[in-house]
Amino acid sequence: MNNKLFTKIKSIAFLVTLFFCCTSLYSQSAMTNVESRNTTNLNGDWTVIIDPTGTGDWRQVWKEKKPEKKTDFYEYSFEGSPTMKVPGDFNSQMVEITYLEGIVWYKKEFTHTTKSNKRNFIHFGAVNYVADVYLNGEHIGSHEGGFTPFQFEITDKIKSGKNALVVKVNNKRLKNGLPSLGFDWFNYGGITRDVNLIETSKCYIEDYHIQLEKHSDNEVLGWVQLNGVSKSEKVKIKIPELNIEYETISNKNGLAEVKFSGEFELWSPQNPKLYSVIIKSKNDEVTDEIGFRTIEIKGKEVLLNNKPIFFKSVNIHEENPYKAAKAYSEEDALILLNWAKELGCNMVRLAHYPHSEHMVKLAEKMGLMVWSELPVYQHIEFSNPDVPQKMDLMMKEMIRRDRNRAAVVLWSLSNETYSFTENRDNALIELTKQCKLLDDTRLITHVINNQGYDNNTFNVWDTLYNHVDIIALNEYLGWYVPWQGKPSETKWKFVNDKPVFISEFGGESLYGSNYGPKDEAASWSEEYQEKIYQDQIEMFNNVPNLIGVCPWILVDYRSSGRMHPVYQKGYNRKGLISENGEKKKSWYIMKEYFQTENN
Ligand code: GCU
Repeated sequence: MNNKLFTKIKSIAFLVTLFFCCTSLYSQSAMTNVESRNTTNLNGDWTVIIDPTGTGDWRQVWKEKKPEKKTDFYEYSFEGSPTMKVPGDFNSQMVEITYLEGIVWYKKEFTHTTKSNKRNFIHFGAVNYVADVYLNGEHIGSHEGGFTPFQFEITDKIKSGKNALVVKVNNKRLKNGLPSLGFDWFNYGGITRDVNLIETSKCYIEDYHIQLEKHSDNEVLGWVQLNGVSKSEKVKIKIPELNIEYETISNKNGLAEVKFSGEFELWSPQNPKLYSVIIKSKNDEVTDEIGFRTIEIKGKEVLLNNKPIFFKSVNIHEENPYKAAKAYSEEDALILLNWAKELGCNMVRLAHYPHSEHMVKLAEKMGLMVWSELPVYQHIEFSNPDVPQKMDLMMKEMIRRDRNRAAVVLWSLSNETYSFTENRDNALIELTKQCKLLDDTRLITHVINNQGYDNNTFNVWDTLYNHVDIIALNEYLGWYVPWQGKPSETKWKFVNDKPVFISEFGGESLYGSNYGPKDEAASWSEEYQEKIYQDQIEMFNNVPNLIGVCPWILVDYRSSGRMHPVYQKGYNRKGLISENGEKKKSWYIMKEYFQTENN
């Protein structure tokens, strides 16, 4: 990317952010690397008001009115209300609201001492789905989207002493939402990730991109964005382990270009090497653990650090199976990622939305590549003018948080959308272009399942396949779609010659199910599921340009639409493991297959 284009893109991105900050009460793009900031963590018990009918708005509960005159009374109060844990979903914390898709009001009090030379921000790791945030009775802004971070600057609103933070959380499904009305996972609502009060200096390091330049294993090409500057400022980047001390200077908008070289031990699943990288400006300093690797396409192959790689992947939903609750902590991530490692994976597809930073950082430390995806899922209202904007913002939030994670090798921008949906092609092609502009160092794809299957032959085509780096397709032969011939004789026709990834396959079984003949789907038997896996693996041998496979799914997970009272009980049972951690027969088939794939 030449410098002129680079400066132009960054300046446009900078102006867009500026426009958003100035014109609406919409949230700001969150600063990068909260872990390395001066934070006051606001996790813990928050008082809550459950508001199933949504009367809290006209009652203005954020004002916390108190009776003054003898005749006064108010039909709500946080005092005397129950508490809930933050982070965490609200559905699993109170049985009465297990299936609530609506409003819960949260309140947290905290004390603070304001300092004249400091700025203050409230940062949320994620809130599902729409968050309206109030501080000391005043609305400070809102955010839509359940899986990406956001923040508000509260420098001129925070008080010295006691402050009251109120968050209205609404997980009601929206037709023009992302996802829209229908999705096959549990709609956990709540303040689902960490909340932090962040104090910075007047001018702070807002964001940075410190990664290898495309096609280079020793040239770093990136930038640092300062916030709050009005003139150029020096920026230093240090990598003590490599004796690298690099200095650059920002322009008056705070953008500093970064270009230096180093003899890096490259990050890979076998050697998940991370370097301590210090980014320093006049009044701020952050430290990040960053890996350096290259990922690119060469003909029909994917190369990691210039060597062909086969993605041994598995799909994961962000759920702690033992708690039947939204996963949010490092401990939750460890349960899921340890299973993925045990299965023999070198990658995890975090379906169908950005998972927590804990999950991504832990995967990186454990040597698992990460497939990060936007919840642009199935029936999206692409013709609604708000939708492309929402997609764009969510993509920017996703990339911004994880752009320095070497483990993240691919951005997936949609799953199973339909080419017949109005404006789908235009909207997703435009989104792909924007994604490439924001980050051309990673692979980009769209997951599709509208391939034809006739006479035991797949016909794989979609307009979007001309705009992606790899072809990613979901197929459920043996479950939703019966085989039309021997798996070993299945034929494939592709629209182009790109590398191919089977992003979903599999079928359902109830662990230990002993109901009915094992060769019938309705037995929900492990044997029936096992056969699906054996057949799929046989078919994989003749899939041209196959660079990876990814079973749906690692562990049984909650989905309210899965209603069979005996076999499903509100669970999608396509897991290789049951929600109690029991390994199904198909687990061993997949583990053995990954053992044969020697890379
Ligand atoms: C789809 C979809 C998944 C879903 C799965 C299933 O392909 O992408 O989200 O859960 O199929 O039907 O189990």
